[in-house]
Amino acid sequence: MNVLIRGRARPVRTVSFDPATNAVRLIEQRLLPHAFRIVATRDFRETARAIRDMVVRGAPAIAATAAYGLAQGARAFRGRNLAAFERHLERVFQTLKAARPTAVDPVNAMRQVREAMAAGRSVAERQALALEAAERFANRSVEECRAIGRHGAPLIRDGMRILTHCNAGWLACVDVGTATAPLYAAQAQGRRFHVFCDETRPRCQGATLTAWELAQQGISHEIIADNAAGHLMARGEIDLVIVGSDRTLGRTGEVANKIGTYTKAVLAHRHGIPFYVAIPLSTIDWELRRGADIPIEERAAAEVLGAWGVVASPGRPARKATPAQPVYVRVANPASKARNPGFDVTPPELITGIITPVGIFRPRELWKHRHRLGYQG
Ligand code: MRU
Repeated sequence: MNVLIRGRARPVRTVSFDPATNAVRLIEQRLLPHAFRIVATRDFRETARAIRDMVVRGAPAIAATAAYGLAQGARAFRGRNLAAFERHLERVFQTLKAARPTAVDPVNAMRQVREAMAAGRSVAERQALALEAAERFANRSVEECRAIGRHGAPLIRDGMRILTHCNAGWLACVDVGTATAPLYAAQAQGRRFHVFCDETRPRCQGATLTAWELAQQGISHEIIADNAAGHLMARGEIDLVIVGSDRTLGRTGEVANKIGTYTKAVLAHRHGIPFYVAIPLSTIDWELRRGADIPIEERAAAEVLGAWGVVASPGRPARKATPAQPVYVRVANPASKARNPGFDVTPPELITGIITPVGIFRPRELWKHRHRLGYQG
Protein backbone atom coordinates (compact mmCIF):
# COMPACT_ATOMS: atom_id res chain seq x y z
CA MET A 1 0.00 0.00 0.00
CA ASN A 2 1.05 3.62 -0.26
CA VAL A 3 2.70 5.25 2.73
CA LEU A 4 3.21 8.97 2.99
CA ILE A 5 6.98 9.37 3.47
CA ARG A 6 8.33 12.94 3.62
CA GLY A 7 5.18 14.21 1.91
CA ARG A 8 5.24 11.68 -0.96
CA ALA A 9 3.08 8.56 -1.26
CA ARG A 10 5.31 5.52 -1.86
CA PRO A 11 4.28 1.89 -2.33
CA VAL A 12 5.71 -0.24 0.50
CA ARG A 13 5.43 -3.91 1.37
CA THR A 14 5.41 -5.02 4.99
CA VAL A 15 8.06 -7.67 4.25
CA SER A 16 10.64 -7.89 1.45
CA PHE A 17 14.07 -9.36 0.81
CA ASP A 18 17.37 -7.84 -0.27
CA PRO A 19 19.41 -10.53 -2.08
CA ALA A 20 22.56 -8.36 -2.18
CA THR A 21 22.85 -8.31 1.63
CA ASN A 22 20.86 -11.53 2.27
CA ALA A 23 18.64 -9.50 4.60
CA VAL A 24 14.92 -9.57 5.32
CA ARG A 25 13.48 -6.06 5.32
CA LEU A 26 10.59 -5.34 7.68
CA ILE A 27 8.46 -2.39 8.68
CA GLU A 28 9.25 -1.94 12.41
CA GLN A 29 5.63 -2.24 13.55
CA ARG A 30 6.36 -1.58 17.23
CA LEU A 31 7.10 2.05 16.36
CA LEU A 32 3.85 2.68 14.50
CA PRO A 33 1.93 4.96 14.41
CA HIS A 34 4.55 7.26 15.95
CA ALA A 35 7.37 6.60 13.48
CA PHE A 36 7.77 4.74 10.17
CA ARG A 37 11.01 2.81 9.87
CA ILE A 38 12.23 -0.16 7.84
CA VAL A 39 14.72 -2.47 9.53
CA ALA A 40 16.83 -5.33 8.14
CA THR A 41 17.54 -8.68 9.78
CA ARG A 42 20.94 -10.05 8.80
CA ASP A 43 20.56 -13.74 9.60
CA PHE A 44 17.81 -16.27 10.27
CA ARG A 45 18.17 -16.05 14.07
CA GLU A 46 17.63 -12.31 13.93
CA THR A 47 14.66 -12.91 11.64
CA ALA A 48 13.17 -15.37 14.16
CA ARG A 49 13.70 -12.81 16.94
CA ALA A 50 11.91 -10.16 14.87
CA ILE A 51 8.90 -12.49 14.59
CA ARG A 52 8.97 -13.41 18.29
CA ASP A 53 9.35 -9.80 19.47
CA MET A 54 6.66 -8.59 17.04
CA VAL A 55 8.75 -6.26 14.92
CA VAL A 56 6.61 -8.01 12.30
CA ARG A 57 3.31 -9.65 13.23
CA GLY A 58 0.09 -10.87 11.63
CA ALA A 59 -0.16 -14.40 10.25
CA PRO A 60 0.51 -13.84 6.52
CA ALA A 61 3.27 -11.30 7.28
CA ILE A 62 5.13 -13.66 9.58
CA ALA A 63 4.60 -16.38 6.95
CA ALA A 64 6.41 -14.34 4.30
CA THR A 65 9.07 -13.40 6.87
CA ALA A 66 9.60 -17.07 7.72
CA ALA A 67 9.73 -18.02 4.01
CA TYR A 68 12.38 -15.35 3.40
CA GLY A 69 14.10 -16.33 6.66
CA LEU A 70 14.36 -19.91 5.45
CA ALA A 71 15.83 -18.73 2.14
CA GLN A 72 18.16 -16.42 4.10
CA GLY A 73 19.35 -19.32 6.25
CA ALA A 74 19.76 -21.56 3.19
CA ARG A 75 21.77 -18.92 1.32
CA ALA A 76 24.09 -18.40 4.30
CA PHE A 77 25.20 -22.06 4.21
CA ARG A 78 28.79 -22.56 3.04
CA GLY A 79 29.76 -25.90 1.55
CA ARG A 80 28.54 -28.48 -0.97
CA ASN A 81 27.50 -31.35 1.23
CA LEU A 82 23.76 -31.86 0.66
CA ALA A 83 23.19 -33.87 3.85
CA ALA A 84 24.86 -31.18 5.99
CA PHE A 85 22.86 -28.54 4.12
CA GLU A 86 19.57 -30.32 4.87
CA ARG A 87 20.49 -30.65 8.58
CA HIS A 88 21.23 -26.93 8.65
CA LEU A 89 17.94 -26.19 6.87
CA GLU A 90 15.98 -28.22 9.43
CA ARG A 91 17.54 -26.12 12.23
CA VAL A 92 16.56 -22.93 10.42
CA PHE A 93 13.01 -24.25 9.90
CA GLN A 94 12.59 -25.21 13.56
CA THR A 95 13.98 -21.88 14.81
CA LEU A 96 11.58 -19.87 12.66
CA LYS A 97 8.65 -22.17 13.43
CA ALA A 98 9.16 -21.81 17.18
CA ALA A 99 9.13 -18.00 17.05
CA ARG A 100 5.32 -17.83 17.31
CA PRO A 101 3.24 -20.97 17.66
CA THR A 102 -0.42 -20.13 16.94
CA ALA A 103 -0.35 -19.01 13.29
CA VAL A 104 -0.05 -21.92 10.88
CA ASP A 105 0.89 -19.67 7.95
CA PRO A 106 4.68 -19.67 8.63
CA VAL A 107 4.76 -23.46 8.64
CA ASN A 108 2.68 -23.68 5.45
CA ALA A 109 4.90 -21.07 3.78
CA MET A 110 8.16 -22.77 4.78
CA ARG A 111 6.83 -26.15 3.63
CA GLN A 112 6.14 -24.65 0.21
CA VAL A 113 9.71 -23.33 0.07
CA ARG A 114 11.16 -26.69 1.08
CA GLU A 115 9.06 -28.55 -1.48
CA ALA A 116 10.31 -26.24 -4.23
CA MET A 117 13.91 -26.69 -3.06
CA ALA A 118 13.70 -30.47 -3.40
CA ALA A 119 14.00 -30.13 -7.19
CA GLY A 120 17.57 -28.78 -6.82
CA ARG A 121 20.40 -31.29 -7.22
CA SER A 122 23.12 -29.25 -5.54
CA VAL A 123 23.35 -26.89 -2.58
CA ALA A 124 23.69 -23.95 -4.96
CA GLU A 125 20.59 -24.96 -6.91
CA ARG A 126 18.57 -25.38 -3.72
CA GLN A 127 19.72 -22.01 -2.42
CA ALA A 128 18.52 -20.33 -5.62
CA LEU A 129 15.22 -22.22 -5.56
CA ALA A 130 14.63 -21.22 -1.93
CA LEU A 131 14.66 -17.51 -2.68
CA GLU A 132 12.52 -17.96 -5.80
CA ALA A 133 9.95 -19.91 -3.78
CA ALA A 134 9.90 -17.35 -0.95
CA GLU A 135 9.31 -14.55 -3.48
CA ARG A 136 6.57 -16.64 -5.10
CA PHE A 137 4.90 -17.14 -1.72
CA ALA A 138 4.99 -13.41 -0.96
CA ASN A 139 3.60 -12.47 -4.39
CA ARG A 140 0.87 -15.09 -4.23
CA SER A 141 -0.09 -13.88 -0.77
CA VAL A 142 -0.65 -10.38 -2.18
CA GLU A 143 -2.73 -11.78 -5.06
CA GLU A 144 -4.81 -13.79 -2.60
CA CYS A 145 -5.51 -10.70 -0.50
CA ARG A 146 -6.68 -8.86 -3.63
CA ALA A 147 -8.98 -11.80 -4.43
CA ILE A 148 -10.35 -11.70 -0.85
CA GLY A 149 -11.13 -8.04 -1.55
CA ARG A 150 -13.02 -8.91 -4.75
CA HIS A 151 -15.12 -11.57 -3.01
CA GLY A 152 -15.70 -9.59 0.17
CA ALA A 153 -16.45 -6.15 -1.27
CA PRO A 154 -20.13 -6.91 -2.10
CA LEU A 155 -20.76 -7.50 1.64
CA ILE A 156 -20.08 -3.82 2.29
CA ARG A 157 -22.98 -1.53 1.48
CA ASP A 158 -23.04 2.22 1.49
CA GLY A 159 -23.36 3.68 4.98
CA MET A 160 -22.46 0.47 6.85
CA ARG A 161 -20.70 0.47 10.20
CA ILE A 162 -18.15 -2.33 10.36
CA LEU A 163 -16.30 -3.66 13.37
CA THR A 164 -12.84 -5.19 13.05
CA HIS A 165 -10.57 -6.67 15.71
CA CYS A 166 -6.80 -6.40 16.08
CA ASN A 167 -4.96 -5.76 12.81
CA ALA A 168 -5.74 -7.97 9.85
CA GLY A 169 -4.72 -5.21 7.49
CA TRP A 170 -1.83 -4.84 5.07
CA LEU A 171 0.61 -4.58 7.97
CA ALA A 172 -0.45 -8.10 8.99
CA CYS A 173 0.16 -9.34 5.44
CA VAL A 174 2.68 -8.60 2.71
CA ASP A 175 0.24 -6.05 1.32
CA VAL A 176 -3.52 -5.24 1.07
CA GLY A 177 -4.64 -7.22 4.16
CA THR A 178 -7.30 -9.85 4.75
CA ALA A 179 -10.10 -8.28 6.83
CA THR A 180 -9.28 -4.89 5.32
CA ALA A 181 -9.16 -6.15 1.70
CA PRO A 182 -12.97 -5.94 1.26
CA LEU A 183 -12.88 -2.46 2.82
CA TYR A 184 -10.22 -1.20 0.42
CA ALA A 185 -12.01 -2.82 -2.55
CA ALA A 186 -15.37 -1.30 -1.55
CA GLN A 187 -13.72 2.09 -1.10
CA ALA A 188 -12.20 1.80 -4.60
CA GLN A 189 -15.72 1.09 -5.90
CA GLY A 190 -16.89 4.38 -4.41
CA ARG A 191 -18.75 3.12 -1.34
CA ARG A 192 -18.63 5.05 1.93
CA PHE A 193 -18.74 3.36 5.29
CA HIS A 194 -17.42 3.67 8.83
CA VAL A 195 -15.07 1.29 10.64
CA PHE A 196 -14.87 0.69 14.39
CA CYS A 197 -11.40 -0.55 15.37
CA ASP A 198 -11.33 -2.54 18.59
CA GLU A 199 -8.28 -1.22 20.41
CA THR A 200 -7.24 -4.86 21.07
CA ARG A 201 -5.52 -4.90 24.41
CA PRO A 202 -2.97 -5.82 25.49
CA ARG A 203 -0.81 -4.77 22.52
CA CYS A 204 -3.36 -2.45 20.94
CA GLN A 205 -2.80 -3.45 17.30
CA GLY A 206 -6.27 -2.06 16.50
CA ALA A 207 -5.63 1.33 18.07
CA THR A 208 -2.13 1.67 16.64
CA LEU A 209 -1.92 -0.29 13.38
CA THR A 210 -5.45 -0.64 11.96
CA ALA A 211 -6.28 2.96 12.83
CA TRP A 212 -3.02 4.13 11.19
CA GLU A 213 -3.74 2.11 8.05
CA LEU A 214 -7.29 3.37 7.72
CA ALA A 215 -6.16 6.95 8.30
CA GLN A 216 -3.53 6.57 5.55
CA GLN A 217 -6.26 5.29 3.22
CA GLY A 218 -8.72 8.02 4.14
CA ILE A 219 -11.33 5.59 5.53
CA SER A 220 -13.70 6.96 8.18
CA HIS A 221 -13.00 5.19 11.47
CA GLU A 222 -13.02 5.39 15.26
CA ILE A 223 -11.12 3.41 17.86
CA ILE A 224 -13.26 1.82 20.55
CA ALA A 225 -12.31 0.17 23.83
CA ASP A 226 -12.59 -3.60 23.52
CA ASN A 227 -15.45 -3.58 26.00
CA ALA A 228 -17.53 -1.09 23.97
CA ALA A 229 -18.57 -3.37 21.11
CA GLY A 230 -21.46 -5.05 22.95
CA HIS A 231 -22.97 -1.69 23.83
CA LEU A 232 -22.73 -0.46 20.22
CA MET A 233 -24.19 -3.71 18.90
CA ALA A 234 -27.11 -3.52 21.33
CA ARG A 235 -27.86 0.00 20.08
CA GLY A 236 -27.84 -1.09 16.43
CA GLU A 237 -24.63 0.80 15.64
CA ILE A 238 -22.69 -2.11 14.12
CA ASP A 239 -23.89 -3.80 10.91
CA LEU A 240 -21.09 -6.21 10.11
CA VAL A 241 -17.97 -7.73 11.69
CA ILE A 242 -14.90 -8.79 9.67
CA VAL A 243 -11.80 -10.23 11.32
CA GLY A 244 -8.71 -12.17 10.22
CA SER A 245 -7.39 -15.50 11.43
CA ASP A 246 -4.11 -17.07 12.44
CA ARG A 247 -5.26 -20.63 11.94
CA THR A 248 -8.54 -21.91 10.52
CA LEU A 249 -9.21 -25.62 10.74
CA GLY A 250 -10.18 -26.95 7.31
CA ARG A 251 -11.86 -29.99 8.86
CA THR A 252 -14.07 -28.19 11.39
CA GLY A 253 -14.26 -24.50 10.47
CA GLU A 254 -12.93 -23.39 13.87
CA VAL A 255 -11.04 -20.09 13.77
CA ALA A 256 -8.12 -19.04 15.95
CA ASN A 257 -7.57 -15.31 16.00
CA LYS A 258 -6.43 -12.55 18.35
CA ILE A 259 -7.74 -12.83 21.88
CA GLY A 260 -11.18 -11.26 22.12
CA THR A 261 -12.38 -12.44 18.71
CA TYR A 262 -14.49 -15.16 20.32
CA THR A 263 -16.14 -12.59 22.60
CA LYS A 264 -17.06 -10.46 19.58
CA ALA A 265 -18.45 -13.49 17.74
CA VAL A 266 -20.68 -14.36 20.71
CA LEU A 267 -21.92 -10.76 20.85
CA ALA A 268 -22.52 -10.60 17.09
CA HIS A 269 -24.50 -13.86 17.25
CA ARG A 270 -26.58 -12.51 20.16
CA HIS A 271 -27.46 -9.44 18.10
CA GLY A 272 -27.92 -11.15 14.71
CA ILE A 273 -24.97 -9.30 13.15
CA PRO A 274 -23.10 -11.09 10.31
CA PHE A 275 -19.63 -12.19 11.43
CA TYR A 276 -17.08 -12.90 8.68
CA VAL A 277 -13.50 -14.15 8.79
CA ALA A 278 -11.14 -13.30 5.90
CA ILE A 279 -8.24 -15.67 5.20
CA PRO A 280 -5.62 -16.47 2.57
CA LEU A 281 -5.07 -20.16 1.80
CA SER A 282 -1.92 -20.27 3.97
CA THR A 283 -4.12 -19.82 7.09
CA ILE A 284 -5.89 -23.15 6.61
CA ASP A 285 -4.70 -26.06 8.73
CA TRP A 286 -5.90 -29.28 7.08
CA GLU A 287 -4.35 -31.53 9.70
CA LEU A 288 -5.70 -30.62 13.14
CA ARG A 289 -9.07 -32.14 13.97
CA ARG A 290 -10.01 -30.08 17.05
CA GLY A 291 -9.78 -26.40 17.83
CA ALA A 292 -8.79 -27.37 21.37
CA ASP A 293 -5.51 -28.70 19.91
CA ILE A 294 -4.47 -25.34 18.44
CA PRO A 295 -1.36 -24.14 20.31
CA ILE A 296 -2.33 -20.88 21.98
CA GLU A 297 0.58 -18.54 22.57
CA GLU A 298 0.93 -17.31 26.16
CA ARG A 299 2.75 -14.00 26.13
CA ALA A 300 4.57 -11.99 28.81
CA ALA A 301 2.54 -10.72 31.79
CA ALA A 302 4.13 -7.28 31.25
CA GLU A 303 1.85 -6.76 28.24
CA VAL A 304 -1.23 -6.94 30.48
CA LEU A 305 0.30 -5.14 33.45
CA GLY A 306 1.30 -2.08 31.44
CA ALA A 307 1.21 -0.43 28.04
CA TRP A 308 3.51 1.18 25.46
CA GLY A 309 3.08 4.65 24.00
CA VAL A 310 4.65 8.05 23.56
CA VAL A 311 4.39 10.78 26.15
CA ALA A 312 1.44 13.13 25.59
CA SER A 313 -1.21 14.98 27.54
CA PRO A 314 -4.70 13.43 27.44
CA GLY A 315 -6.77 15.00 24.66
CA ARG A 316 -3.75 16.55 22.96
CA PRO A 317 -1.60 15.07 20.19
CA ALA A 318 1.98 14.20 21.08
CA ARG A 319 4.27 17.19 20.62
CA LYS A 320 6.67 17.21 17.64
CA ALA A 321 9.63 16.89 19.99
CA THR A 322 8.18 13.72 21.54
CA PRO A 323 10.63 10.85 21.01
CA ALA A 324 9.20 8.33 18.54
CA GLN A 325 10.51 5.44 20.63
CA PRO A 326 7.53 4.23 22.68
CA VAL A 327 8.00 3.99 26.43
CA TYR A 328 6.48 1.37 28.72
CA VAL A 329 4.28 2.51 31.57
CA ARG A 330 3.05 0.26 34.34
CA VAL A 331 -0.71 0.44 34.78
CA ALA A 332 -1.60 -2.47 37.03
CA ASN A 333 -1.09 -3.07 40.71
CA PRO A 334 2.66 -3.80 41.04
CA ALA A 335 2.18 -6.80 43.32
CA SER A 336 -0.25 -8.60 40.98
CA LYS A 337 0.48 -11.27 38.40
CA ALA A 338 -1.24 -11.56 35.02
CA ARG A 339 -2.30 -14.22 32.54
CA ASN A 340 -1.89 -13.36 28.85
CA PRO A 341 -3.22 -15.82 26.25
CA GLY A 342 -2.67 -14.21 22.84
CA PHE A 343 -5.41 -15.94 20.85
CA ASP A 344 -8.78 -17.65 21.21
CA VAL A 345 -10.81 -20.06 19.11
CA THR A 346 -14.23 -19.23 17.67
CA PRO A 347 -16.53 -22.17 16.86
CA PRO A 348 -18.08 -22.44 13.37
CA GLU A 349 -21.67 -21.89 14.51
CA LEU A 350 -20.82 -18.28 15.40
CA ILE A 351 -19.31 -17.54 11.97
CA THR A 352 -21.47 -16.43 9.03
CA GLY A 353 -18.83 -17.01 6.38
CA ILE A 354 -15.15 -17.40 5.61
CA ILE A 355 -13.97 -15.05 2.87
CA THR A 356 -11.23 -16.80 0.91
CA PRO A 357 -9.42 -15.98 -2.33
CA VAL A 358 -11.73 -18.41 -4.19
CA GLY A 359 -15.06 -17.37 -2.68
CA ILE A 360 -17.07 -17.17 0.56
CA PHE A 361 -17.88 -20.43 2.33
CA ARG A 362 -19.72 -21.47 5.45
CA PRO A 363 -17.05 -22.59 7.93
CA ARG A 364 -18.20 -26.20 7.93
CA GLU A 365 -18.04 -26.29 4.11
CA LEU A 366 -14.29 -25.72 3.91
CA TRP A 367 -13.62 -29.45 3.85
CA LYS A 368 -16.15 -30.03 1.04
CA HIS A 369 -14.34 -27.39 -1.07
CA ARG A 370 -10.86 -28.49 0.04
CA HIS A 371 -9.44 -29.10 -3.44
CA ARG A 372 -10.33 -25.55 -4.55
CA LEU A 373 -8.84 -24.32 -1.27
CA GLY A 374 -5.42 -25.82 -1.85
CA TYR A 375 -5.68 -29.11 0.11
CA GLN A 376 -2.98 -31.48 -1.09
CA GLY A 377 -3.53 -34.54 1.05
O1 MRU B 1 -0.44 -11.00 17.70
P1 MRU B 1 -0.60 -10.51 16.31
O2 MRU B 1 -0.55 -9.03 16.18
O3 MRU B 1 0.33 -11.22 15.35
O4 MRU B 1 -2.07 -10.98 15.95
C1 MRU B 1 -2.59 -10.64 14.71
C2 MRU B 1 -3.96 -11.15 14.57
O5 MRU B 1 -4.53 -11.81 15.39
C3 MRU B 1 -4.59 -10.90 13.28
O6 MRU B 1 -5.96 -10.79 13.42
C4 MRU B 1 -4.24 -12.06 12.39
O7 MRU B 1 -2.90 -12.34 12.28
C5 MRU B 1 -4.98 -12.00 11.16
S1 MRU B 1 -4.04 -12.25 9.72
C6 MRU B 1 -4.28 -10.94 8.67
